[in-house]
Amino acid sequence: MNFPQTRLRRMRYNTILRNMVSETKVSVDDLILPLFVCPGKGVRKPISSMPGNYQLSIDLLVEECKKTVAAGVKAVLLFGIPESKDETGEVACSLDSIVQKAIIAIKKEIQDIFIVADVCNCEYTTHGHCGTIVDGDVDNDLTLKTLAAQSLSLAQAGADMIAPSDMMDGRVAAIREILDLNGFEKTSIMSYSAKYASGFYGPFREAAESAPKFGNRSTYQMNPANSNEAMREIEQDIVEGADIVMVKPALSYLDIIYRAKHEFNMPVAAYNVSGEFSMVKAAGANNWIDEKRVMMEIITSIKRAGADIIITYHAVEIANILKEQNA
Ligand code: PBG
Repeated sequence: MNFPQTRLRRMRYNTILRNMVSETKVSVDDLILPLFVCPGKGVRKPISSMPGNYQLSIDLLVEECKKTVAAGVKAVLLFGIPESKDETGEVACSLDSIVQKAIIAIKKEIQDIFIVADVCNCEYTTHGHCGTIVDGDVDNDLTLKTLAAQSLSLAQAGADMIAPSDMMDGRVAAIREILDLNGFEKTSIMSYSAKYASGFYGPFREAAESAPKFGNRSTYQMNPANSNEAMREIEQDIVEGADIVMVKPALSYLDIIYRAKHEFNMPVAAYNVSGEFSMVKAAGANNWIDEKRVMMEIITSIKRAGADIIITYHAVEIANILKEQNA
């Protein structure tokens, strides 16, 4: 049937009806909030390029987690800023390491929280690369050893999920193997499967103090020009045992999220990264855009593209908006 019998605007005249036929709904259950933990006590150091985000010492991180759960966001993704760094990232591989200590502290005080632990070496190496350097580049197979060791100790500390963000080949298999060998077969893996070498990570590198001291990450992170390669990365990670596959960043990669969801029968996560967050904040602070409206539009579009899970620094703000809408 054509116009005038068909009138698509008929479904838009009434708010209740509009909500009824809304194809995409963001839920607080979909959201994961990234948090940064640093040494010390009583530390709440603002991250200048990410308004509202802080490096928190463990005591204040626990308080932040309580507030996050109270706001309705039940999952956090932890990144660590260590006391000292080394060549290989081994400082991140013991129960005394910063994130492990944080997990133990959170789990002691909060029951209904889900902790995802990022696994990577860039926050822990003196050179800021995601693995062990041999002949001026990250050595894949040597790096697998520290990634596996880091994952195991994070699981021992009580992490519910391990999220490798390094982009080494074979890391999901290496992590699955060490977890299973040590009785952690219930600990899940969310793999940063299609992680691009992106300018959108700029603010994060200030937050995590993890910028590479030489070169860039293009020999391990993906070329933003590629889409088929992302499908191969995802396929490999599924074969190796990933439970959830992730696309990162999100906003400039909605086509990748869409393909991931439609080509694989898997839960798909999308990382709405630091640069995406900071652009919204900066434009909002200048009154160039309606910040909250744009934030919800972005998150809805990531969901619409096919993401089941969204990792976002906006998580608590979104939870508050959803609460207002349901009130
Ligand atoms: C570590 C890691 C990065 C991010 C998450 N894990 C940075 C990078 O690869 O340089 C970026 C997150 C963000 O920008 O919000 N490898």
